[in-house]
Amino acid sequence: MTRVFSGIQPSGEMHIGNWLGAIRNWVALQDSHEAIYCIVDQHAITGQYDVGSLADRTREMAISLVAAGLDPSRSVLFVQSHVPDHATLAWLLTTIAPLGELERMTQYKDKSQRVESIPAGLLCYPILMAADILLYRADAVPVGEDQTQHLELTRELARRWNATFGAADTPFFPEPQPILTGARRIIGLDGQAKMSKSLGNTIGVTESPEEIWQKLRPAMTDPARQKRTDPGTPEICNIYALHRHFSPEATVAEVATNCRTAAWGCIDCKKVLAANMATTLAPIRERSLELRAAPGEVQAMLGDGAATARRLAGETMREVTDRMGFLREG
Ligand code: AMP
Ligand code: TRP
Repeated sequence: MTRVFSGIQPSGEMHIGNWLGAIRNWVALQDSHEAIYCIVDQHAITGQYDVGSLADRTREMAISLVAAGLDPSRSVLFVQSHVPDHATLAWLLTTIAPLGELERMTQYKDKSQRVESIPAGLLCYPILMAADILLYRADAVPVGEDQTQHLELTRELARRWNATFGAADTPFFPEPQPILTGARRIIGLDGQAKMSKSLGNTIGVTESPEEIWQKLRPAMTDPARQKRTDPGTPEICNIYALHRHFSPEATVAEVATNCRTAAWGCIDCKKVLAANMATTLAPIRERSLELRAAPGEVQAMLGDGAATARRLAGETMREVTDRMGFLREG
């Protein structure tokens, strides 16, 4: 069976961008693939972060993942820092990683502009991500579109390592391919930027119907609709884009017509979306409330997952350190 690996940062809240762009695929792939999923807490410390809430945010992300349908009996779910080999392999890969390519990563260029002093960890972030994936010799990686450049670098590192340390005929590391969903890049409630926790433009998958409504109500729509009677262009409205992910096809068609003719105002349109979104997300929300009431259950799942991951990672690392020529212990 081919193996998939993916990771998500412990932002505390899984938002609908994460869910539509990646996590739905994580869940689906459990049945057809050997699936390994990781909450990447070591990636989450590459910028300034809130130390006091990191553990809670990590636990909360685990709850959301299980609530969204990850089943620890069909996939491996664990926390990155519980498996020290991620950081070890990342170090080994820094020695073959091309500095110029790291500096060209879009996410790095973006984030490094927003800080006064650039931590090396921000630059090396994609190397740690490559280590996550290569440590399990994964064939494919379900992610959103924003991660495809990082995956390109992962393939480059796999090729370089294979060429330098591998047997030429049987490459040790596979070159992992992305698996994208039909929702590669969900736009945030500002109607402009990618939905992202750090931009504060998200809706969480475990939010209540009331919270969903409070967030959708002021969300950006087609700016041409100044007055209730101004007609709009659904194709440029993010609310319409979200309808396509949460509303039945007939409703989507009705939304488009009623926007173009101004038969509905934006508030009417958002009310329908809020209701459909709440209905779609209700099972995730309910399961998350149950899991939150039994925190020991999730903690035990993560313990089992880490034990499995450490075993799998250990197998890779034995081969890697041998091929790189290190002295074996004892
Ligand atoms: P992150 O929260 O950055 O760790 O992202 C976790 C997963 O969600 C990754 O596979 C991302 O590519 C995906 N993702 C994050 N934001 C979005 C978005 N706005 N649209 C689609 N996918 C996303
Ligand atoms: N960089 C990814 C993100 O921000 C998270 C991540 C870390 C990841 N390691 C990974 C994703 C390995 C896929 C595979 O979304």
